[in-house]
Amino acid sequence: MQVQFCGLTLNGCVYNASGPRTGSSDALAKVGSSKSCAILTKSATLLPQNGNPLPRTYTSPNFSINSEGLPNKSIDYYIDSETIKESVLDSGKPYFVSISGKSLDDNVEMMKRICKAPGVAGIELNLACPNVIGHPIIAYDMVQLRSALKTVASLSLPLPIGIKLPPYFDFIHYQKAAEIINEYKSTISYIVTMNTVGNTLMISPHSGSPVISPKGGYGGLSGPAVKPIALAQVRKFSELLDPSIDIVGVGGVQSGQDVYDMILCGAKVVQVGTCHWIEGPKCFDRIVEEFEEICRKNGVKELEEIRGKLKEWSKKGAALDRQGRKSEPKTSAKGGAKFQSTLDDSSFLLLSVAVVVMIQVLLVLLAQALGHLDVPAVAQFMDNLKA
Ligand code: SIN
Repeated sequence: MQVQFCGLTLNGCVYNASGPRTGSSDALAKVGSSKSCAILTKSATLLPQNGNPLPRTYTSPNFSINSEGLPNKSIDYYIDSETIKESVLDSGKPYFVSISGKSLDDNVEMMKRICKAPGVAGIELNLACPNVIGHPIIAYDMVQLRSALKTVASLSLPLPIGIKLPPYFDFIHYQKAAEIINEYKSTISYIVTMNTVGNTLMISPHSGSPVISPKGGYGGLSGPAVKPIALAQVRKFSELLDPSIDIVGVGGVQSGQDVYDMILCGAKVVQVGTCHWIEGPKCFDRIVEEFEEICRKNGVKELEEIRGKLKEWSKKGAALDRQGRKSEPKTSAKGGAKFQSTLDDSSFLLLSVAVVVMIQVLLVLLAQALGHLDVPAVAQFMDNLKA
């Protein structure tokens, strides 16, 4: 299904988030040759940098934590014509560049350089990285957010500009951020919500210490566990932002259903980050195919039919939910490991009773058979059994 985004026609609505596996043209080419509808680079800085000390990533089935500290090859690498050519190859997909400068001046300089480079479709300005040591998350500071957007607006850049936001948790913070972004609606084409949940901590039960090394173990949380937070961002911002500003949903997306949910909440397109990191670029093919299958089942032909169409809670909906959940694979409470089971609780009880009865019948049959054998020890045993 085609989507109009930033004045471009995208062949689909799923692409990669800026993050792991996006730092080099080799990695980006793999995204380009998958069913991802666009290509987005790792957040660049003015100069190349190695990022934070290792180990700086941790993964588990339900969540991941990273404090990479923006390792990247520099803006000049990502806008180099060779890099773009090697990344896009013959896919013809739009190539977006993410930037996360150490200062507003750095961001301005990078934006100017990007606009001079042919082949870039748009700029994602990351105002939400939680992992740069000594730098707070820009978009939590409303004064800084307004000043950044004011400066960007003053540049009158010819490319579409998106801003990547951190997750907000209080409605007043959403309102304040949306108010500022709406003031610059003629400059900001889209928001990307959300970056990781900043400064979370995981401790190894084996060592009693944090699982990653930088920043005392604090890092950004991502993966399936953050999906409800991401859905809330997309939903809330779709209520508050001017309709001319598109929303890119990102956070915990790992299936076609996750994409569907993001669109129901109001996302125009959806990015995949942690799942891409863990599963590799083939995740785009799987997720897109799953999403298309769900759309087919639901008779959806255009994304506009479902965009922002989240239904209100109702008793009828709750009953459908209860019924539907009975047929879902069960998830164990311990450690979140998934096990597949096609049995619900009552079927399991019936099966257990049947197995016990069968064992008893077999024991009786065995005892009868043994009773007919002329072995003194067995005869003695059978007598004892009867007694
Ligand atoms: C990182 O490189 O630390 C992750 C990028 C981000 O969270 O913006």
